[in-house]
Amino acid sequence: MKIAITGSNGFLAQHLCVFLAQQGFEVIGCGRGMNRVQSPATFAYHSVELTDVSSIRRFFSLVQPEIIIHTAAMSKPDECLQNPEACLLHNVTATSLLAETAQLYNTKFIFSSTDFIFGEGGPHSETDQPAPLNFYGESKWMAEQALLSILPDAVIFRPVFIYGKQWPGMRGSFIHWVANALQANKPIKVVTDQLRTPTFAPDICKGITTIIHTNQTGIFHLAGKDILSPYEMALAVAATLRLDKNLIEPVTADSFPEPVKRAQKSGLKIDKAQRLLAYEATSFEEGVRMSFT
Ligand SMILES: NC(=O)c1ccc[n+]([C@@H]2O[C@H](COP(=O)([O-])OP(=O)(O)OC[C@H]3O[C@@H](n4cnc5c(N)ncnc54)[C@H](OP(=O)(O)O)[C@@H]3O)[C@@H](O)[C@H]2O)c1
Repeated sequence: MKIAITGSNGFLAQHLCVFLAQQGFEVIGCGRGMNRVQSPATFAYHSVELTDVSSIRRFFSLVQPEIIIHTAAMSKPDECLQNPEACLLHNVTATSLLAETAQLYNTKFIFSSTDFIFGEGGPHSETDQPAPLNFYGESKWMAEQALLSILPDAVIFRPVFIYGKQWPGMRGSFIHWVANALQANKPIKVVTDQLRTPTFAPDICKGITTIIHTNQTGIFHLAGKDILSPYEMALAVAATLRLDKNLIEPVTADSFPEPVKRAQKSGLKIDKAQRLLAYEATSFEEGVRMSFT
């Protein structure tokens, strides 16, 4: 089965490319410009600019993917706030253009959304009402709605605070930021009063593989099972890598002058995925251990 994955120079897409290629799928990574990541799997790569409909059409006519997994996005909430027009272009317009083309080619569409579409009161289930607190969350919620208006049978999955292995050329996740700082003996401040359900990237990959094999449609929360603050996550990284936890200073979110509003209690419930996909979430401790081995 031929699967195209957008955003393949990004963190999640690279994990998906590696995992699905290793599962024997024919994977085609799509990114902007060159393929910049050196990961442990071999797959085809095409440069595609998703805000340019002719670039998307050329790609589809050449490759004709049976499935497209769309993870490419302007994924940093601060950048979305600073440049809302670019955020709408990359997150909403690009998703619509891709969905319209997928419709022409009868390509199954799987879209990566986020817990940021919700407000306070997490962990949230798939049936909770979205109420984004910032423009990034707003744009991803708009993208979900735009997608479903074109392809009502699309799959939407929502992860939270993704972490996992980092390969050369790839940006790191929060756990790498913590590990790098502690290894350099650098003190860091980490918030105690925000709760998340951090997601181990390979768990998402397994969830999506089951979605493909069982031909699911609809919305799935693919997240971790532990509800943790970033401070607790940082302590777990220090313990796993035997680094000095005294370098981690606990602080509250109001001690950071952050322009982007974030939920205190976010996170996603995974009951639906556990029931319909036999989804198994890795514990944070185990996920961190596997990310660094
Ligand atoms: N990371 C998380 O914790 C998290 C949590 C929940 C949901 N998500 C969602 O999961 C998805 C993947 O997140 P991520 O952290 O892996 O993102 P990422 O590392 O920032 O990667 C996003 C990729 O999208 C590419 N891209 C953006 N606009 C594009 C365009 N117009 N045409 C072609 N490529 C474009 C970027 O290309 P360049 O490299 O060239 O900039 C980048 O490689 C996103 O949809 C995000 O909203 C992420």
